[in-house]
Amino acid sequence: MAKKLFIKTYGCQMNVYDSLRMQDVMKPLGYQPSESFEDADLVILNTCHIREKAEEKVYSELGRIRQEKEKKAAEGDKMLIAVGGCVGQAEGEEIIKRAPFVDIVLGPQSYHQLPEMVTRAIRNNGGVVELDFPAVQKFDLLPEEASPQGASAFLSVQEGCDKFCSFCVVPYTRGAEYSRSINAIKSEAKKLVERGSVEIMLLGQNVNAYHGEGPDGRSWSLAELIAQLAKIDGLERIRYTTSHPRDMSDDLIAIHGSEPKLMPYLHLPIQSGSDAVLKKMNRKHTAEFYLDIIARLRAVRPDMAFSSDFIVGCPGETDRDFEETLKIVEQVGYASAYSFKYSPRPGTPAAVEEQLPEAIKDERLQRLQELIRRKQLAFNESCIGKTMTVLLDRDGKYDGQLVGRSPYMQSVHVMGAEEYRGQLVDVRITEAYMSSVAGIIPASSRGAIFAKTKDVSTGSQEILRSNASALAAG
Ligand code: 5AD
Ligand code: SF4
Repeated sequence: MAKKLFIKTYGCQMNVYDSLRMQDVMKPLGYQPSESFEDADLVILNTCHIREKAEEKVYSELGRIRQEKEKKAAEGDKMLIAVGGCVGQAEGEEIIKRAPFVDIVLGPQSYHQLPEMVTRAIRNNGGVVELDFPAVQKFDLLPEEASPQGASAFLSVQEGCDKFCSFCVVPYTRGAEYSRSINAIKSEAKKLVERGSVEIMLLGQNVNAYHGEGPDGRSWSLAELIAQLAKIDGLERIRYTTSHPRDMSDDLIAIHGSEPKLMPYLHLPIQSGSDAVLKKMNRKHTAEFYLDIIARLRAVRPDMAFSSDFIVGCPGETDRDFEETLKIVEQVGYASAYSFKYSPRPGTPAAVEEQLPEAIKDERLQRLQELIRRKQLAFNESCIGKTMTVLLDRDGKYDGQLVGRSPYMQSVHVMGAEEYRGQLVDVRITEAYMSSVAGIIPASSRGAIFAKTKDVSTGSQEILRSNASALAAG
């Protein structure tokens, strides 16, 4: 009989990808995805440990699931609860101590072992913890058959991080850097395209440090991987995230100017605009180095848009340091940006430094977010009147509304375009808001759907050129 599997995903896109793969690995055992945890036989929380808040959310959700588990038990039914992801990895046994009704704890490298762990948990009544970083990588052990992901798909190509930024827990929870082979990625990408994806987002904690084994046995760069994937017919858009400024190699910068399938948008976190703070953060670069990369990317691709992550209130950050962060935001003119209050993570070097008062962090975050909002709106407004190719892959809030992504990752809302669901379509931007834009499909491009036709790259290339000058000032 079919069993129900509910997975709740927290945090980054790599977790979203991992959740999909956990579904795939459980399918042969008869587990079908479920929309709610109430009727699930197996509940997995795929967790995030990057900030304290993310972790608290997990424990409060566990409380709610516990009630359902007890209700089911009273009716003679069983519900297994598993905690995966980075909280699982970081806390391990502690989770079962604090929440004894949890049956399974597993780290992000152990997902291929899930079926065996579930069997063990059923047999032994819980208590299964698996946190190894196995020598054989999980990607090689996960089933080849992946579920369809829709028009836009995630594909993990790299995992782990060797950078050890002083604030960050990732190198401890996700382990050392590892890159999948070119062939494995290419074959997964082809399957995604066969199943309807036209856009692929390549994922990695430090994706531009990618150095996977190529078909010739040599280690290939991310740019080489992108060039290979761009050859796949029917794959129209390629993106990658998240990148470290130190790993923006010359070939990667260059390919932004030569490969039209590579989207003109880059998430390139700088974290702080102050060299003193960057040093304390162990980021291994200065603000000037970062600005130079931005300039070089804009030189090869004038319409390139950027986003970043920022942390305010790291130990030792002065008012003047913070002003430098505001200055960077002004200088780059981000299309979007994420900002966070520093949150001490156990086991990381910055956590044992003297901490700033919460009120200072709050005030700085507010000021930074206000500026970021203004910049986002300015970027969106600069797009009014432009026509850009949008991948309309989601239903909007209103009847007859579709939502998609512009090349610059903006959410684009379009009314009355149902026939274009899942397609790449030219949209003329007519309205701009803080976190989205709205547009119409011009009569001239109605019917001229770009997706899955040979015209697609020509189409995007033309739009790319016509947008270039207007967006360069961003
Ligand atoms: N506190 C606050 N933000 C953090 N990030 C990483 N670690 C911390 C922390 N300890 C942010 C960084 C990173 C993003 C994914 O999360 O900005 O780029
Ligand atoms: Fe964390 Fe720094 Fe690695 Fe990014 S590069 S995952 S911030 S340690």
